[in-house]
Amino acid sequence: MLDRVRQIGEEARDAFAAARDEQALENARVRYLGRKSELNLMSRGLGELAPEERKKIGRATNELKNELAALLEAARERIEKGAAVAALDLTLPGRLPWVGRKHVITRTLERLEEIFRTLGFEIAIGPHIEDDFHNFDALNIPADHPARDMHDTFFIEGGKLLRTHTSPVQIRVMQSRKPPVRIIAPGRVYRNEASDASHSAEFYQMEGLYVDRNVRVGELKGVLTKFLHELYGEDVGVRFRAGFFPFTEPSTEVDVECRVCRGKGCSVCSGTGWVELLGAGMVDPRVFEAVGYDPDVYSGYAFGLGVDRICMMLTGTDDIRLFLENDLRFLDRV
Ligand code: FA5
Repeated sequence: MLDRVRQIGEEARDAFAAARDEQALENARVRYLGRKSELNLMSRGLGELAPEERKKIGRATNELKNELAALLEAARERIEKGAAVAALDLTLPGRLPWVGRKHVITRTLERLEEIFRTLGFEIAIGPHIEDDFHNFDALNIPADHPARDMHDTFFIEGGKLLRTHTSPVQIRVMQSRKPPVRIIAPGRVYRNEASDASHSAEFYQMEGLYVDRNVRVGELKGVLTKFLHELYGEDVGVRFRAGFFPFTEPSTEVDVECRVCRGKGCSVCSGTGWVELLGAGMVDPRVFEAVGYDPDVYSGYAFGLGVDRICMMLTGTDDIRLFLENDLRFLDRV
């Protein structure tokens, strides 16, 4: 009988080692450790044996059951691990980790700053919460002037307002230093107006101001043309239109050919094929008077770029609102 126990042990070890899947292992378990297995029947029949024999066979069957139980467990682990490895497709391409980056408007601002830095401009900044004087009065827009309607203003407590353009930074810079002045002032501006594909209530502008003796309108045109060529290439369509701003005279508005529809007409350019990117002009003498510069000695030019629209034309984005929505599917693409 002891020989038979040994024989069962050998068969069972081979069967557990040979099992390649869960079903084969289960078959082996039922056969060698199951309720009706030969080993179990032997254990159950021990009572019929002589005491000496019962002891020997009892120990041998118990030891074998413990050994087989451990082997069964090890075989189960081996099969599970094998299944997990088989489920891994090692030929799949790796997944790149997601890497964050600067917002496309920030990158555009940096690009513009770089271009103007090479043209000799330095960066100035001003507050987003402004007063009437800096946002309007000093820019020759008195309280009763119809031009105030051009800016739908968000007024806040204490007679303050959210700046409607970056032009108040011109005033603050001129109040704080003497000419020559050559600055750009990037930053966010706010207008209480309805939004559409090319208008937002919150957007970025970049102001430019150059004041010195004998600054002429040709220099303004030269700098703006150079800037637009740097940005969009020499072949971009550029259009200078006569415009009106109370703080510049003469004034111009500058358009580029719509990059979204390539001039054919779309919702961004309202079907015209052109997008207005900036306003500009020669600083009005009344602005110089407001900041204590002598208009008989100094002259200068100023411009205000619409950074979001510049960015739309750089990236072919057809809706300005996408810049504020923080949808990573869009931001990852531009
Ligand atoms: C101004 O804000 C003047 N301060 C610009 C200026 C500065 C003129 C210095 C002369 C000298 P305007 O309102 O046109 O002008 O705005 C300037 C640019 O900002 C526009 O050409 C356009 O590109 C952009 N812009 C204006 N309104 C919006 C808006 N709601 N959403 C997005 N961009 C806008």
